[in-house]
Amino acid sequence: MPVRSAWCHPALLLLLSSLPLWAAEISCRNENGEAVDWFALYKLPKHTTGEIAMLGLEYMYMDTLAPQWQLGKYLVNMTQGALGQTLKQLYETYESQKNSIAYAIYNDEVPQSDSDGWKRGHTKGFLLLDKSQGFWVIHSVPLFPPIPEDGYGYPATGEFYGQTAICITFKYDQFTEIDQQMLSYNPGIYSCSIPNIFQADLPNLQKLCAGSRLPSVPLRHLSKLQSAHGETFLHFAKSHLFIDDIYVAWMAQELKTDLLAESWQHSGQKLPSNCSLNYHVYNINLIRMPLNFTFYSINDHSKWAVSREYKDQWTCIGDLNRAAEQAWRSGGFICMQNEHIYKAFRNLIIHYDSCTDASTVI
Ligand SMILES: *[C@@H]1O[C@H](CO)[C@@H](O)[C@H](O)[C@H]1NC(C)=O
Ligand SMILES: *[C@@H]1O[C@H](CO)[C@@H](O)[C@H](O)[C@H]1NC(C)=O
Ligand SMILES: *[C@@H]1O[C@H](CO)[C@@H](O)[C@H](O)[C@H]1NC(C)=O
Repeated sequence: MPVRSAWCHPALLLLLSSLPLWAAEISCRNENGEAVDWFALYKLPKHTTGEIAMLGLEYMYMDTLAPQWQLGKYLVNMTQGALGQTLKQLYETYESQKNSIAYAIYNDEVPQSDSDGWKRGHTKGFLLLDKSQGFWVIHSVPLFPPIPEDGYGYPATGEFYGQTAICITFKYDQFTEIDQQMLSYNPGIYSCSIPNIFQADLPNLQKLCAGSRLPSVPLRHLSKLQSAHGETFLHFAKSHLFIDDIYVAWMAQELKTDLLAESWQHSGQKLPSNCSLNYHVYNINLIRMPLNFTFYSINDHSKWAVSREYKDQWTCIGDLNRAAEQAWRSGGFICMQNEHIYKAFRNLIIHYDSCTDASTVI
């Protein structure tokens, strides 16, 4: 039995047992603390009808190991949840490995700060990596997550409305691409450390972290990324100089697909469904989850879009709303053609607005 004998080789056993605990690779983590290539999470709004009464902390969850929506085993404010487990790598291991790990946390609404971050991107997320690999989370929750000194928590202000988050695990080389995207993104970073060993590969993140001057900003940039397990993602990053609705003017036309879009409908001047260009964008207005959780988009702070046609299979999750003023903000979306993610999001849609004003039933 060659396999068994190889694994029982004394030198190998010695090597395995001497690996320090923290050698576990930085990765998105599921609710069992296991490494996953990606996960998607949809926190339900407080005002949701369904089979249980809502606290505003429950979430639907899916990942590579269980690729369909299921009710999260924990509440979103608990460290055992997928966001808690993933951030634990930042909160608990960061202190001991300061020189070999890079991280950045950004949000246009910063915890314990009065600055509203309007000069920075309308972007929310965080990333953590070492020279082997790391993860990137893109989400919609204002004032989240807490700085490492404070440890995990979920803001009360994030309870009322629906929120989305996606986590993707990337090998180290992909972070050079992500660093490029940060130039157009101009994220409002409020906690970070980019040690000098990363200077050559993450020059923009290092400058953003230090608050120093950035090179000239591309209008917009599309980046092709590959997750650690080889799944392809497209990342759209627009700067504040690309003054248009990212959904209509860029994403739908670039992906060559009609999009159904869910975004925050309270801020400023809401943009109606739009059929002016080759590919159309329609605003979703009613969502129904598995377990019959049902809510109106007016109760949702999420930002995502899916192809209207099942054959196109695009899902995008990101930062910007369909509102007129957001044309002047930087931000972006991560898009994929994963059939499971597509099905999970596409099947949520009960109603969207047609371009002629009458509501369309799907
Ligand atoms: C999470 O929120 C619930 C409801 O407000 C609360 O009872 C619980 O103590 C919170 N848990 C943590 C870990 O903060
Ligand atoms: C649709 O969106 C495009 C791109 O933003 C814009 O130029 C056009 O005026 C919009 N059409 C309508 C009817 O609002
Ligand atoms: C699901 O919810 C809708 C709207 O609240 C309700 O009309 C319907 O009866 C529910 N269906 C089931 C199977 O509970």
